[in-house]
Amino acid sequence: MAKQRTLSIIKPDAMEAGHAGAMIARLEAEGFAVLGMKRLHLTRPQAEGFYAVHRERSFFGELVEFMSRGPIVVMALEREDAIAKYREVIGATDPGKAAEGTLRKLYGKNVGENAAHGSDAPETASGEIAYFFTGYEVRPTA
Ligand code: RTP
Ligand code: MG
Repeated sequence: MAKQRTLSIIKPDAMEAGHAGAMIARLEAEGFAVLGMKRLHLTRPQAEGFYAVHRERSFFGELVEFMSRGPIVVMALEREDAIAKYREVIGATDPGKAAEGTLRKLYGKNVGENAAHGSDAPETASGEIAYFFTGYEVRPTA
């Protein structure tokens, strides 16, 4: 499997609880290279834009409120099979159903406030990385 990229977000709940350092350390230990990293506080429109794919869902308002309520850390990560591996490390969307040792099991509170975001496919990963990083911050793939 070739190297792949994924967009990671440490969500406001995990930031508020002081888990960012532990989460970044775990991702490095799992073999992810940090190509880009920044701390941001999204406006509501910025959070709406990022999660636009979910705009018709019942939880959209709650999700936008949550993602814009405090600082987050966004990271462009790279490793072999990054998308699937990252989702394995963070675990299921609902922390109550996530496997032992996963980041959402360790640090998530509930299905809404679940500590971390990860891209779900190569196409969404490149769009999500471009949403937060310019080409001189994270070089486009050749
Ligand atoms: P993410 O996009 O954040 O990595 O999460 P995911 O793929 O595991 O889950 P997705 O279905 O894409 O949902 C995006 C985020 O919306 C919130 N959510 N709330 N209240 C609810 O029932 C509910 N369902 C989803 C979560 O923050 C979820 O991560
Ligand atoms: Mg998703």
